[in-house]
Amino acid sequence: MKTAVVTGGASGIGLGIAERLRGDGFHVATLDLNPSADDDYAFQADVTDPEQIAAALDAVRTKFGPVAVLVNSAGLDGFKRFGKLSFAEWQRVIDVNLHGVFHTIQAVLPDMVEAGWGRIVNISSSSTHSGQPFMAHYVAAKSAVNGLTKALALELGPSGITVNAVPPGFIDTPMLRKNEQAQRLGGTVEDHIQRTPVRRVGTPADIAAACAFLISEEASYITGQIFGVNGGRNT
Ligand code: NAI
Repeated sequence: MKTAVVTGGASGIGLGIAERLRGDGFHVATLDLNPSADDDYAFQADVTDPEQIAAALDAVRTKFGPVAVLVNSAGLDGFKRFGKLSFAEWQRVIDVNLHGVFHTIQAVLPDMVEAGWGRIVNISSSSTHSGQPFMAHYVAAKSAVNGLTKALALELGPSGITVNAVPPGFIDTPMLRKNEQAQRLGGTVEDHIQRTPVRRVGTPADIAAACAFLISEEASYITGQIFGVNGGRNT
């Protein structure tokens, strides 16, 4: 049984991915700032802190062995007019969304290189296709994640490791509903459904299905791809 680590696995998309991979027969450990208390496979770690990641991964390896799969879903959004954005706000969003991915990949890489096999999937954002006003820091960080994905795919391919990104668009999670409540969506979720070609909101299971495929043996020839899952909103 292979071991998968999902960051941000306590909520929304990360939770959906963890459930799917468990169903597919992986040992799944989640790393989250706020892990669910009643889950034995949930570990506390802030992805911006390499020491917390190392401690959590030590515990994961003791319980389940080396890490074969990493899905980076931990993320932090932010809304601020660019002229009003402080450098500290810019930095925190870059730190969680980009540097968090740097730290987790570096921490699991030795296991994958040693095994000669690995799968990395980075959850970026459909805003990297379209841009998004008032989210300059977030779009910049997620676009960098797409770039990191492409660079690492070339570098790690010879070690048997694939690296892909899934940029989700409009997925029904606590993050989306929080933004609906704060009137940051430019309409309700229902309004957006009418503007979405497939006429529904996406679910964490939609993103999990894409991840499950990219992680599978069948996808071993697919690497460095930015695999949009967005109901046709960002084609
Ligand atoms: P969510 O807010 O429901 O879940 C995010 C999880 O990440 C939470 O459990 C949170 O505790 C965790 N987290 C945040 N900062 C962390 C840190 N420093 N260290 C460890 N864990 C941390 O959000 P959702 O919607 O599930 O988002 C998952 C990913 O998908 C994020 O990267 C987000 O940017 C991305 N995304 C989501 C979209 C959507 O429509 N919901 C659209 C585009 C991208």
